[in-house]
Amino acid sequence: MTGRILVVDDEKDMLALLRRIITEKTEHEVIVEHDPFKAVKCMEEQPFNVVITDLKMPKMDGIALLDQARRIQPAAAVIMMTAYATIETAVEATRKGAFDYITKPFRKERILLTIRRALDWQALRCENVALRESLARQKAFPSIIGSSPTIKSILSQVKQVAKSMATILIQGESGTGKELVAKAIHAHSDRCSKPFVTVDCTAIPEQIIESELFGHEKGAFTGAWRNKRGLVDEANQGTLFLDEIGELNTGMQAKLLRLLQEGECKPVGGLKSKQADVRFVAATNHDLRELVVQKRFREDLFYRLNVISFRLPALRERRDDIPLLVHHFVKEYSRLNNKQIRGVEPEAMSMLMSRQWPGNIRELENVIERGAVLCQSERIRLEDFMTDAEHTRALPYFDEAMFSLPFKEAKEAVIRAFHRQYIHAILQQNQGNISRAAEQAGLQRQYLHRIIKHERLDTESFKQG
Ligand SMILES: Nc1ncnc2c1ncn2[C@@H]1O[C@H](COP(=O)(O)OP(=O)(O)OP(=O)(O)O)[C@@H](O)[C@H]1O
Ligand SMILES: [Mg+2]
Repeated sequence: MTGRILVVDDEKDMLALLRRIITEKTEHEVIVEHDPFKAVKCMEEQPFNVVITDLKMPKMDGIALLDQARRIQPAAAVIMMTAYATIETAVEATRKGAFDYITKPFRKERILLTIRRALDWQALRCENVALRESLARQKAFPSIIGSSPTIKSILSQVKQVAKSMATILIQGESGTGKELVAKAIHAHSDRCSKPFVTVDCTAIPEQIIESELFGHEKGAFTGAWRNKRGLVDEANQGTLFLDEIGELNTGMQAKLLRLLQEGECKPVGGLKSKQADVRFVAATNHDLRELVVQKRFREDLFYRLNVISFRLPALRERRDDIPLLVHHFVKEYSRLNNKQIRGVEPEAMSMLMSRQWPGNIRELENVIERGAVLCQSERIRLEDFMTDAEHTRALPYFDEAMFSLPFKEAKEAVIRAFHRQYIHAILQQNQGNISRAAEQAGLQRQYLHRIIKHERLDTESFKQG
């Protein structure tokens, strides 16, 4: 196994010697630094598997550097080098978390062996950390809610294909849960304890996407003053989620195709390609096939990605799931806002059921969050869900869905909506003064009062000042 090693020593000859010993016999990447302060900065900027440091250095001693390493990169294994090995310093270093120490002068074999053991130890520790993290993640993992036949079938397919290495393409409108499904695939795979890394193809500028994906070598271009790991490398043994894949330009499409076909990636400015061990899941809210027809997406890449594909339905195509989702989000946002909300009022639910939801589940989630924040009782009311603009817009839920209700129910719903809006408007115009509002509307004061009570409108809120 290969690793990234940082060597710190104030003697430049020693650095050169160690670099030679390590790179001669191994594939490890070695970075040397004679200034411990610069070494600390370096650790802050990039990850290392092993840090080898001299004990006695003028500016900062090895024990202090060890402390810094433990703080910045707790997973790295630190090896101490000293010409003055005494039991005390060795004990102190190991007590403070150093992996091992070696005495100068040392034999080549000894240092190489210590590095190998450090890397093995480090890998084991990482696995434990990753395992613990993955258990915690699984608990916190948001479940995919839905009992409609489409969602049920997607869920069972997710479980089926998760274990394979096949590339998966997830298509669906914005907010339909593509990322959630990608994470579910990872969580059900054997790779679940390894990283799930997202590449947002729209967020990375075109010029640097290659170095973001594949990393770069120091000096590959202006500004590349250090070697940098790419996202493909970070996702090693895990899953690489290529989000918004339809946004990639044709140049990158070609490079990605090579990566998918050969599994090889080469850092920008590097000579050697590395074998990538990653599972690819891609997502897009475009119709990729359509992009292929328009010659905006390579056909060969499309077929390479489209080994297994999921099309997530829009929320309006599975309205049956709305009550379940509403219940789920109400519970979640009630807890988050420290409230005891038990559900939504029936007419609020019928509004939620009948909306078109162009933003799909994300939009529904936002609406529920808003309702939960504004809600002052056990159940979220229609008003709590409405934006200020909707309060003044005509009959908010008078749409197609209304016509599928029985006549009586539809009529009542429309009348109630009318009551609300009309009375809301006249109260607003009269600053909450019921007598004046009744006079303006040509209604009996008592009658208006009764409707206000029935609709639970808050006259106080219309008062100015
Ligand atoms: N079936 C579901 N059950 C519960 N929550 C869901 C479900 N589907 C989506 N969500 C939630 O809806 C939100 C949007 O989902 P997600 O980010 O996965 O959508 P997306 O398809 O990737 O959207 P975009 O195309 O805009 O990136 C998230 O908060 C997600 O947790
Ligand atoms: Mg997404």
